[in-house]
Amino acid sequence: MKESFIVKGFAGEKRLEGEIKVGGAKNEALKLMAASVLCSGPLTLENIPAIEDVKRMAEIIEKLGGKVRIEGSACTLDTSGIKNGEIDHDLAKSLRSSVVLTGPLLARFGAVSFPHPGGDLIGERPIDFFIEGFEKMGASTTIENGEYRVSTKGGLKGADIFFRWVSVTATETLMMAATLAKGTTTLRNVAMEPEVVDLAEFLVSGGASIKGIGTPTLVIEGGKTLAPRSAWRVIPDRIEAGSFLILGALAAKELRITDCEPEHSRMLIELLSHSGVHIEAGKDSLTISNGAKDIHRAMALKTHEYPGFPTDLQAPMVVYLTQAEGESRVFETIFEGRLNYTEDLVRMGAQITLWNPHQAAIRGPTPLRGATLESPDIRAGLAFLIAAIIAEGASTLQNIYHIDRGYSHIEERFSALGAKIKRVQQ
Ligand code: EPU
Repeated sequence: MKESFIVKGFAGEKRLEGEIKVGGAKNEALKLMAASVLCSGPLTLENIPAIEDVKRMAEIIEKLGGKVRIEGSACTLDTSGIKNGEIDHDLAKSLRSSVVLTGPLLARFGAVSFPHPGGDLIGERPIDFFIEGFEKMGASTTIENGEYRVSTKGGLKGADIFFRWVSVTATETLMMAATLAKGTTTLRNVAMEPEVVDLAEFLVSGGASIKGIGTPTLVIEGGKTLAPRSAWRVIPDRIEAGSFLILGALAAKELRITDCEPEHSRMLIELLSHSGVHIEAGKDSLTISNGAKDIHRAMALKTHEYPGFPTDLQAPMVVYLTQAEGESRVFETIFEGRLNYTEDLVRMGAQITLWNPHQAAIRGPTPLRGATLESPDIRAGLAFLIAAIIAEGASTLQNIYHIDRGYSHIEERFSALGAKIKRVQQ
């Protein structure tokens, strides 16, 4: 059953107020769930967000033969009942993170089969780094009827792998595979996102040997199944924290964001502060306040691997820039389809010129008008919700499954701050 949000906009007035809590990071929770395949016993995770992607990942693991119990924000996984690496085709098509299971399954069973993973409509999203990495580790691959079959004779072997482009999921997948492979694996030019770093620390806590965590080169001594001694807590979602900061800059008198890790939002804080927004960072909180006469200035930014500006905050940031004074320039360097949503902001009254699939100019400030919108992906979905909150008049956001995939009960959390959002059946 499809659902929509009906949003009554504030016509640019800064009316939100209060406190909002950040949940656990989607892009770590899903990978930790995949890591349960490497564990010799049950694994308990804490601070798991109540989002649709977590439910889909749980279904994939259950379909493989594992047990998943989610109670509140705790999740216990027992993968001892998994007998092979045959990932369900249809479920895997529903989310990109399913690809991260391929590493642990291949390492444990010597074979894995899966379709080209699904997910957002934000660009091509190839998986060549995964396949090439597995092959360097001694596996061979066939593709038949859209199904990849990767297998090894005698298990995975350590290898020296250099990524041609920094990839979050390829780093995570090959790092996990390497913990069970025979010998030493060196991964070079790896992703250093906080979620990747914390996943590596989790693996080490379970007995893996990984050197160079947080640097571009990881050296992994493989061969051991993991035995985590205690529950692992998912780090705060820096994309939620960042989106809330942007919402605060646009629509709040004062907003306090709690349970976050300010250092993980450093680039956004620097950019917003430079643009004229008042942000105060505490140990695990951020407070944003807007004065009646504050002026927010335009800026140039490009998306980049961590600690650069995250591509997952690019769409909400463009909404911010529609309200900043002057001409802003945005260069999306990671995904080629991730500026397409700007067409809809233009329908709402934004002045955005798309020079090419990667570069746009935004002239502000321009008042936005309510519209009927459909989100193409999780992050553009949230950007549309923010745009609807600051627009004049009512907006309808259709097919909000994309928002529910990444943000838990967002309408309740924003309504508690004063936003006017109703969830209705389409
Ligand atoms: N790439 C390849 N070949 C590969 C893998 C990646 O060419 O085999 C390229 C991609 O086309 C892209 C670049 O490498 O141009 C970087 O993509 P990356 O692999 O890092 O992206 P991802 O791992 O598929 C994760 C997050 C995304 C986030 C990006 C960048 C997950 C499940 N997804 O994707 O999150 O945007 O890293 O930080 O962790 C989201 O949460 O909404 C989301 C899309």
